[in-house]
Amino acid sequence: MNNMPIQTESKFRQELKLELEHRDQFSMRRQLRVIKGNARIIEYEGKSYINLASNDYLGLSNHPHIKEAAINAIIKHGTGAGASKIVIGHQDIHHHVEKQFAAFKGAESALLLPTGYAANLAVLTSLAAPGDLICLDKLSHTSLIDAAKTSGATVRTFPHLQTAKLRKLLQRHSDASCCISSTNPSDTPKTYYTPLNRPPRRFIVADSVFSMDGDVAQLPELVSIAKEYDAILIIDEAHGTGLMGKNGSGLCESQNVKGQVDVIISTASKALGSLGGIVTADRIIIDTILNHGKTIIYTTSIPPAQAAAIGAAIEVIQNDEHRRHYLQQISLKFRHALLNMGWQLPDLISEDEITPIFPLILGSPEKAIKAYELLKKSGFLAFASRYPAVPRGEDRVRISLRADLAENDLDKLITAINSLN
Ligand SMILES: Cc1ncc(COP(=O)(O)O)c(C=O)c1O
Repeated sequence: MNNMPIQTESKFRQELKLELEHRDQFSMRRQLRVIKGNARIIEYEGKSYINLASNDYLGLSNHPHIKEAAINAIIKHGTGAGASKIVIGHQDIHHHVEKQFAAFKGAESALLLPTGYAANLAVLTSLAAPGDLICLDKLSHTSLIDAAKTSGATVRTFPHLQTAKLRKLLQRHSDASCCISSTNPSDTPKTYYTPLNRPPRRFIVADSVFSMDGDVAQLPELVSIAKEYDAILIIDEAHGTGLMGKNGSGLCESQNVKGQVDVIISTASKALGSLGGIVTADRIIIDTILNHGKTIIYTTSIPPAQAAAIGAAIEVIQNDEHRRHYLQQISLKFRHALLNMGWQLPDLISEDEITPIFPLILGSPEKAIKAYELLKKSGFLAFASRYPAVPRGEDRVRISLRADLAENDLDKLITAINSLN
């Protein structure tokens, strides 16, 4: 009897086991924790902890108005959207929330997708193609990097928040592009205007608030570079939307560049407290993404309850500045305490740009895990971020503050961190 397939399978499993053991040796193995709840207090292995690991910065995932909106949407519309957005999955509730979100962002149009990851994929693969250049801030989120690579465009990075190399990359590409003769669409047979018969494009892509360091992009500078080099500016506001700006619409608002960024991607999975990617842009760009984005066309539209939760979260953000201001206030206090203890933090250009994300950089996966364990003993659950989520040697504990923390929680946290040294 031929037992070859079984042998192959077991060899495959042995390889996987070896790789996982290797991860264990270097404290790089990821494992799931079963957590109860997602509020200020969470439970893990029967013990309660103060939650410093969530991106639900404003605590909106438990907000009564948002929960009620989601429940009502289930009662009225059911649990599923039933089909892709381009079939029958774009219901009145989705349509309404897209309009509401576009107004919140001061954009002409908005598009809801299942997640921020899916939104980034849809945006870059719809707008960029081979022959184009995508310049990414080196610390851009993995979903942007993956999306850029998937588009087939040439992908280059520039050092984090530094624009000299960005300018060089754009200049080189525009010098090369002027030698490429683009075909006039009217000379080609009556067909779609494909990337093959258009001039090459240049894109500048970055996060607004960087998720692992909590620092922010200087958007006015990126806007002006984009204009100078005829580039398209795409900003991922995953961690800015809901937090930054007077009305909480994001860093574009707080840095006064609303309407000057070509495409903005937001996600409801952070400060909005639920799930869903939202792209805002001109109608022409949104229509293009709708016609090309595989993570829209070939996936089911978000459930009505999810759309309703997004709409209700925008209402809360617009009407309840207090949470945002309190979070800024405790974040400034925490930053001050960390600097006094000697922790290195990214520069803060203005107090308006404070974010609730704090990296305690420890330098190795082992040290990051040790600090995570010590904080856990003091009653805080934070997250140990290790390579490749962060650059090698910058392994850290990432602390995210939340608007429902008491002043007393913060004082205890500062004491616990002080005893790490
Ligand atoms: C900057 C950034 N962009 C995109 C995403 C993906 O968003 P989502 O969780 O909605 O897929 C995340 C986080 O997960 C993120 O931090």
